[in-house]
Amino acid sequence: MSENALALYPGSFDPVHNGHLDIIGRARKLFRRVVVGVATNQEKQPMFSVADRVAMLRAAAEHHGVEVMSFDGLTVDFAHRLGARVIVKGLRAVIDFEYELKMAAMNKRLRPEIETVFMMTAPEFAYLSSTLIREVARFNGSVAGLVPSSVERRLVARAKSKRKR
Ligand code: PNS
Repeated sequence: MSENALALYPGSFDPVHNGHLDIIGRARKLFRRVVVGVATNQEKQPMFSVADRVAMLRAAAEHHGVEVMSFDGLTVDFAHRLGARVIVKGLRAVIDFEYELKMAAMNKRLRPEIETVFMMTAPEFAYLSSTLIREVARFNGSVAGLVPSSVERRLVARAKSKRKR
């Protein structure tokens, strides 16, 4: 257990959804300490600021006993700074496989001592993604049951403020 006491679960979380929370809860059962890392240097234009994404994650995930932090730069370097030997990633159906395989291989090359551990997404969340959530919310579709209620409220508010402009 001591080797695997700390795991990093990195991602964009723009915004966090119930598939992420499922992985967080399950990871917490396997590792004594789990840090959820919000990447700040994504090339894509995010819907929510890093501060908002961290706040939404904290509100939704802290009851699992995880810590939420943002980080700059490479995920493996952040894991190294934390002293985490494991990076946890969720894997949905087949859509994520090639992307995640490439990233795990590169991360292994960069820091061979850090292991990527994949957890299969629960079937009910297999096709859920933050991209889809943002799109549905932008066009006023319901995302109830797919995201925590605090995130749902922010998405609805965001869609309303966009319509007013
Ligand atoms: O939720 P996402 O968008 O699938 O998360 C992707 C993330 C943030 C984990 C990935 O883009 C990442 O690790 N970014 C930090 C920079 C980095 O380490 N890139 C990968 C090099 S192989």
